[in-house]
Amino acid sequence: MSDLLWQKAGVETDARIMRFLAGNDVLLDREFFLHDITASKAHVEGLARIGVISTDEAAALERELDTLAQDFRSGAFVLDERYEDGHSAIEARLTERLGDAGRRVHTGRSRNDQVLVATRLWLKEKLDALATHCRAIAAVCLERAAQPALPLPGYTHLQRAVVSSTAMWFAGFAEAFIDNALRARQTLGWIDANPLGTAAGYGVNLPLDREYTTTALGFARMQLSPIYAQLSRGKFELAALEALASALLDLRRLAWDLSLFTTAEFGFVSLPPEYTTGSSIMPNKRNPDVVELLRASYATVAAARCEIEQLLSLPTGYQRDLQFSKGSIFHGMTHGLAALELAPDLLARMHWNQPAMRAAIEPAMYATDVAIEQAAAGVPFRDAYRAAAAAAASAGEGRTPERSLAERVSPGGGADVRLEELASRLASLTG
Ligand code: ARG
Repeated sequence: MSDLLWQKAGVETDARIMRFLAGNDVLLDREFFLHDITASKAHVEGLARIGVISTDEAAALERELDTLAQDFRSGAFVLDERYEDGHSAIEARLTERLGDAGRRVHTGRSRNDQVLVATRLWLKEKLDALATHCRAIAAVCLERAAQPALPLPGYTHLQRAVVSSTAMWFAGFAEAFIDNALRARQTLGWIDANPLGTAAGYGVNLPLDREYTTTALGFARMQLSPIYAQLSRGKFELAALEALASALLDLRRLAWDLSLFTTAEFGFVSLPPEYTTGSSIMPNKRNPDVVELLRASYATVAAARCEIEQLLSLPTGYQRDLQFSKGSIFHGMTHGLAALELAPDLLARMHWNQPAMRAAIEPAMYATDVAIEQAAAGVPFRDAYRAAAAAAASAGEGRTPERSLAERVSPGGGADVRLEELASRLASLTG
């Protein structure tokens, strides 16, 4: 391993303890290594602006940081166990290439604010991707909701309740994912604050140009309290996972519907063949494995949230416990986004089997319409309800699913699906 940044003369390290301390930390740091390099460049520029390093040194450091980023992308530089972590690797490489200038790069910063700024930059990108995926899902749902509505049984308690439609089903998920996109953006705004310059959590005796690094890194504002910069570690990751979980909760329900609707018993939906797999023993099977893993993805994100929440039982100030939050946020985010990314194509290409859906609409499903129609004509609702309950089996007389849907007219009352309004809400979220 390259020299430890914090090694003291005369104190030996123990290999087993070092292995435990390191875990797979340096490998995790690969995930945001480029963001760490970006933040290092801003830090170097900031140091030059206050005269702590010369402009020549700053230029040389920035050039080497760019080369390191390029080498990392191409695989010419591998971040591995030769280094304690990604932060140490940056300093080691700059020192190896530039000598004293490299040894100056850590002036006024700590790995504690370094990991914070890299994580925030990484998460801003991921929340942007989350908003994009949610918008894409909402857009496909809106497109499909605009296609001619096919009657579909509406269920409560998984029992046939009233007539619904494919348009209503899609419009429901369109609105859900518009909300989820909004939440992703709001969460992005919430974490869009720069911790760089708060150092180990108590500031430093230098006039660091934090306004400059805030703008240079594209943050909307700076974190003001160095103590809060540390207190917020874990908390902002949790907020990002909550935004992700909100989308995955809806995806889980959607996947549940599809796994029911694709059974022979329902038979309402056929999936594109690429989204199904076969059985190793039963030649007849086509299994909706993708849909099942979309459903299961919520569990992965919930587990990541849970781990971070458990880690946050800490006193003020940096504690090494926080290191474990990295694995959770990287794993949870990456996995959850991959699930959401698949959804638009699946939704665009799933096929409704109209005859099976129509066959599942039974006359009793008009009983609510009958009771409400009577009530609107002046019969007290409870009396109309009782009469309709007694005659539920013949409630279908003269009624069709189309009529039932057409009569659902209150604003947002369902069958009108409010597509234009949903589309304009979606459009207002674009960009
Ligand atoms: N790998 C560490 C983490 O994720 C970086 C910060 C280390 N700071 C320290 N004082 N040991 O928390």
